[in-house]
Amino acid sequence: MVLETRFTKLTHIRYPIIQAGMAGGATTVELVTAVSNAGGLGTLGAGYLTPDKLRAEIRSIKQRTERPFGVNLFVPQDPAVSEPKIRAMTQRLDEIRSDLGIARGPSVDKYAESFEEQMEVVLEEGVPVFSFTFGIAPHSVILRLHNQGTVVMGTATTVREAMALEQAGVDAIVVQGSEAGGHRGTFLSNASQSLIGTMALVPQVADRVSLPVIASGGIMDGRGLTASLALGASAVQMGTAFLACAESGVHLRYKERLLESEEDATEITCAYSGKAARGIRTEFMERMKKYDVEQIPDYPIQNAMTQDIRRAAAKQNNAEYMSLWAGQGLRLTTSDSAQDIVQRTVEQAIAAVQSLSLN
Ligand SMILES: Cc1cc2nc3c(=O)[nH]c(=O)nc-3n(C[C@H](O)[C@H](O)[C@H](O)COP(=O)(O)O)c2cc1C
Repeated sequence: MVLETRFTKLTHIRYPIIQAGMAGGATTVELVTAVSNAGGLGTLGAGYLTPDKLRAEIRSIKQRTERPFGVNLFVPQDPAVSEPKIRAMTQRLDEIRSDLGIARGPSVDKYAESFEEQMEVVLEEGVPVFSFTFGIAPHSVILRLHNQGTVVMGTATTVREAMALEQAGVDAIVVQGSEAGGHRGTFLSNASQSLIGTMALVPQVADRVSLPVIASGGIMDGRGLTASLALGASAVQMGTAFLACAESGVHLRYKERLLESEEDATEITCAYSGKAARGIRTEFMERMKKYDVEQIPDYPIQNAMTQDIRRAAAKQNNAEYMSLWAGQGLRLTTSDSAQDIVQRTVEQAIAAVQSLSLN
């Protein structure tokens, strides 16, 4: 039995499994290439990479695999810069800095890498698949990628967003359900109104767009893959499932928390970055609950402002002040190798299809 779909044909991959591009260090060159070499689509989460680092990583991936791979970037945001809000947040975060024994009131040089410069690198180097989140990439970018033969994918959290992405000319749509770990890709309405579960969202999007749909959020194994295909998806995008594997670049304490946490351990918070994201509950999240959402500077300002705290926490092996992004499928997390995760997911999916009539 083969798992050939519209998406595997479009991207020339063997199995309809995408390892999510996860910015922040998880998606090492080793992880991306292990997944691609196993027949899935490895993706470099490059949102926080400098253009030089991005170029080096793309070249390194190309040296390690002949198979297709993807690069993922963040569509730039236009944050409201409120100096009083930033000053007040600096003081609030200083309480935490004192507890961690790090310098108070650090200066923040820049809020985010330049999307335009990152994009030039992607275009210069040439990549088989490019995906984005947090909005719609500029039309000129999509056209230039298409001229190079790159498959382009956007992220939607509602049917309306999926339809807007189809209109913009992408080739496939990642449908991100509310179970998903990491930042919400929501861009048309507010994040709390766009929390639709994967099971409900995928078929509604599949009915309204003609492009291949990729299910994402809470999919951890072959049962999730089979269910997604049954709902009308042409592939799945899995993030949390790959976070604790040997090739993942996340901190050891983060991996331990992933492996020991249960389905109710996560929450959606804006406290780390100013944008809604799902992660394992931490002391940092709890302490930040005393502030209203309006007191938190917009993404990516808050993201830049909490960076020193998260870095110090990582150095101190203190998971309570790191960001532990994760989805709701936590009990299914394993420390298997990336290749084993892809292989097992495929075998389970085939077995699940064959046993469907028995349930
Ligand atoms: C640690 C982490 C980082 C993530 N970073 C990104 C990112 O940079 N770009 C992106 O499009 N999605 C990102 N996501 C979201 C994934 O694309 C995907 O929607 C999510 O992982 C699916 O849910 P799951 O984690 O339950 O598999 C991230 C997810 C996690 C867990």
